[in-house]
Amino acid sequence: MLRRTLLWLSTRPRVWRFVRKNRLARSVASRFVAGETPESAVAAAVALKARGITTSVDILGESVSEAPAAEAAAAEYHTVLDRMARAQVEVNVSVKPTQMGLDLDPALCERNLRCIIAKARTLQGFVRLDMESSAYTQRTLELFDRLHQEADGGVGVVIQAALRRSTEDVERLIARSARVRLCKGAYLEPATVAYPDKSDVDAHYQRLMERLLSAGNYPGIATHDERLIRHAQRFAESNGIGRERFEFQMLYGVRRDLQIRLRAAGWNVRVYVPFGTQWYPYLMRRLAERPANIAFILGSVIREGLSRQSTPS
Ligand code: FDA
Repeated sequence: MLRRTLLWLSTRPRVWRFVRKNRLARSVASRFVAGETPESAVAAAVALKARGITTSVDILGESVSEAPAAEAAAAEYHTVLDRMARAQVEVNVSVKPTQMGLDLDPALCERNLRCIIAKARTLQGFVRLDMESSAYTQRTLELFDRLHQEADGGVGVVIQAALRRSTEDVERLIARSARVRLCKGAYLEPATVAYPDKSDVDAHYQRLMERLLSAGNYPGIATHDERLIRHAQRFAESNGIGRERFEFQMLYGVRRDLQIRLRAAGWNVRVYVPFGTQWYPYLMRRLAERPANIAFILGSVIREGLSRQSTPS
């Protein structure tokens, strides 16, 4: 129930306008977000590289409703790609199609993505299309198919185990030798398209993970779930799947101990590093995954709101 409420709130811009002014909410966001500038993200990538951990940098922002904003976000990706190359970290970014204008004009979105992918290729880099809610799954996969044909391995996509359709999508992507990041899925979805029970999502994740480990092209096993991580390790070892054939992926600020431990034990680990000012929906999704700090934040937001209302202006 709490998870559903937080995910619903993550899509409310009016709540965002209210929450973003709250100091505590900003400070909690800073745990999950590298900073507001490309420099902060690249600095985080450099620090992680020193521990042997690779990164994928994401510019926060989604559901863009004006073409200039989508174009500006695409231009900012160019800056990030250049800065990553200059800092000598592996050039790898994650991009949300709705930030590139998918809602506005699919052709604009495709143009923006094509441009980012072309730029990344000149730097031997890689671009991952993040997966948003199920309203975008089919369009994102179709977009990916077109881009993948031309990008010569420089582009990958994400599959969400929460979605019932993902078994078929994974098989199709394996057949195309596409690079897949497998995650559980962070969005509020109806039971018609997604498994409502977490145990079913976890079981589906395990099945898809086994398929990708056996037959996929360098899959990204994106989870902090230690049971699934242990299962992946055992499955790989007992099926002769070398550690160089896949990587674990985790989010910036989440289970740092586990990221370091896995890397120290010789597993490939990549961390997703978001930055930017549009952190509200991202923060709400992270809180929905682990509601421990929520009561605290909500209490603070309400207290600050009330004190603003009672202060004469
Ligand atoms: P689960 O939620 O079961 O958590 C397992 C354990 O991990 C928890 O018990 C807790 O210990 C820890 N944990 C998980 N989340 C935490 C948090 N926020 N704070 C503190 N601890 C936490 N989703 C999507 O829909 N589209 C996408 O493109 C992506 N991309 C993506 C990239 C990468 C690299 C990762 C790791 C994840 C995503 N996700 C995503 C998010 C994903 O779908 C999912 O919501 C989160 O990873 C949480 O799920 P877990 O697999 O960690 O399991």
